[in-house]
Amino acid sequence: MIGRLNHVAIAVPDLATGVAMYRDRLGAEVSAPVPQPDHGVTTVFIDLPNTKIELLEPLGENSPIEGFLKRNPFGGIHHVCYEVEDIDAACRQLAADGARILGDGKPKIGAHGKPVIFIHPRDFLGTLIELEQA
Ligand code: CO
Repeated sequence: MIGRLNHVAIAVPDLATGVAMYRDRLGAEVSAPVPQPDHGVTTVFIDLPNTKIELLEPLGENSPIEGFLKRNPFGGIHHVCYEVEDIDAACRQLAADGARILGDGKPKIGAHGKPVIFIHPRDFLGTLIELEQA
């Protein structure tokens, strides 16, 4: 089922600081910030030769990463995203296996315009897992 590592997402309290760190200290290519009001975050993507890093900053009221940043005030790894060929099949298989899929349990359009689901960290070694249709 599982395919490539699509990205690792890091929640940050301040996007400009995060961008400067990756661009200036590490010499990375960083995209322009993209506000994603549907997801309550502003994102930038950092392209690496073998995967991407996604920096997430809270956007608006009740951002889903606010609680995480309260517990991790300096920021931290928020989720990892793996590609799957068939998101609906992955969804059915995981649900049948007892893994809790966040939200209404159905794929939603994610930050790259592709269907994604998130699996509850309690069912996955304490790590929030995003699956994205490849
Ligand atoms: Co993500």
